[in-house]
Amino acid sequence: MNASASSTLRVLTGITTSGTPHLGNYAGAIRPAIQSSTQPGVDAFFFLADYHALIKCDDPARIARSRLEVAATWVAAGLDTDRVTFYRQSDIPEIPELCWMLTCVTAKGLMNRAHAYKASVDANVAREVDPDDGVTMGLFSYPILMAADILMFNAHRVPVGRDQIQHLEMARDIAQRFNHLYGRGEALFVLPEVQIDEEVATLPGLDGRKMSKSYNNTIPLFEGGPAALKAAVAQIVTDSRLPGEAKDADAAHLFTLYRAFASQGQVADFRAALQDGLGWGEAKQALCELIESRIGPMRESYADLMAHPERVEAILLAGAEKARRIAGPFMARLRDAVGLRQPPRAAVGGRTDEGTPAARGTGHAKRARARLVSFRDEAGRFRQRLFASDGTELLLSEPFGDPKRLSRLGRALAGQDLSALPVDAQGFVALVVEGQCWARCPAERVAAVQEALVHL
Ligand code: TRP
Repeated sequence: MNASASSTLRVLTGITTSGTPHLGNYAGAIRPAIQSSTQPGVDAFFFLADYHALIKCDDPARIARSRLEVAATWVAAGLDTDRVTFYRQSDIPEIPELCWMLTCVTAKGLMNRAHAYKASVDANVAREVDPDDGVTMGLFSYPILMAADILMFNAHRVPVGRDQIQHLEMARDIAQRFNHLYGRGEALFVLPEVQIDEEVATLPGLDGRKMSKSYNNTIPLFEGGPAALKAAVAQIVTDSRLPGEAKDADAAHLFTLYRAFASQGQVADFRAALQDGLGWGEAKQALCELIESRIGPMRESYADLMAHPERVEAILLAGAEKARRIAGPFMARLRDAVGLRQPPRAAVGGRTDEGTPAARGTGHAKRARARLVSFRDEAGRFRQRLFASDGTELLLSEPFGDPKRLSRLGRALAGQDLSALPVDAQGFVALVVEGQCWARCPAERVAAVQEALVHL
C-alpha cells in the first residue's frame, strides 16, 4: 500500500486563513500541533487552507492579510519548518486537480448530509426563504476539498476540532470509493483517522463561552502588543466577590485561562491564592503576566516576520516545493489510475523529445529524463536499473519473478515520500511498496533516487 509502508505517522492539518489568530487558536490548535510535530516518528504536514478561506470571505485584502498573519504566527510560535512540511494550499495545483477527481466520485447525497450545509438550509427554512439562499457550491462541496487536502498526502492522522469529525468520515468514504473504483486491488489512498485531543485546552473567551471570533470574545495573541492583551484581560467577566472574599477557582473561567499557560505548581498556588481572597484585579494582573511571559518572546519574532513578508514567502515556497515533490508524482499515478494518462512521448532509447510538439513549451522538455531499464539477470529473474538524468546508475532492484509486478512497483515508488522510510543498521533504506521490497538503497542516495523517479 502507499504511505502505510513507511514506519512514520503522517499527521496533517489545515488552518483556514480567514482571520487573525487569537489566544484560543494558539492554545487549542497551534501549540499542540507544534508540540506533536516534534515527536519521533511523526511526519507533520501543516498548511494554510486559503482556498477554504474563499468560501467564507470575499474580501481580497482580508484574505491576503490573514495568510501572512497565520503563517507568521506559526513560525513565530516555534514551528520547525525544516522538519515539517509547511505550505499554502493554493501553491499546490495538484490539490484542486485531485478535488475534481474526488468530486466525480462523490455522491451528492453524501454532501446533502454535511452539517455545515444543513445548518444553512435549516436557517433559511426558519427564515422562510429559499432553502439554498446564500449557499454557494463552495460551501456545499467544501468537504470534498478537505478530503483532497488530506488524501493528497495520504495522511494517517488528522488532528481537528469536534466540528470536523463528519468531514473526516466523508474523506474516508470518498477515499474508499475511489480505491474501489480505481485501485485495481491496491489502495491508492490511505483511510485517514480523525484525532481529537481531549487534553488540549479549549479556552473560554472573555464572557466564558468558547473563545471564538464569531462570539466577539477573543483575547488577542500577538496583534496589538502587550497593551491589547492587558485591555482584553481587564474585560474578563468574573463574579462580584470582593478582595478578601474566598473565590472558587473552578467556577472562574479566568482560572481556566490561567491553567492553560501555567505549570502545575503555579496552578496550585493560584488556586490557593483565590481561595484566600485574592482580588480579581490582582488575579487579572497575574494572568496577564503569565501569558506575557509565554508569548512575549514569540511576539517579537512575529513582528519581525510581519515586517519582512518576503521571509515568510520564502518559507512557504520552500514548503510548497517539498509538498509538491510528493503531490506531483502521486498525482501522475492518480491520473494514470483514472485513465488520464500522459500521452506517450516520442522519445526512443533515452533520446530526449525536444522536437515533438507535445514536448515544446513544457518546462520539463529540456531536461534529460531519468530512466528505469528492465532486464533479465543470469538467473533468469527480472530486475530494473535506475539511472539518473545524467546517466549515473543509482540502483539495481531486487530480482522478481513477475516482470509486470516489478515495473509496477518501480512506478508506484515515485508516488511515495522515500525520505520518510526508515534507515536500517547497515545504512540502507528498503524501498518497500505494496509490502514488497523493490530495492535496497544506500541512505545517502535516497534523495537522488526520489529525484530520478519523479523525472522518469
Ligand atoms: N475545515 C478545517 C477547519 O475549518 C480546515 C481544514 C481545511 C482542514 N482542510 C483541512 C483541517 C484538512 C484538516 C485537514 O478547521
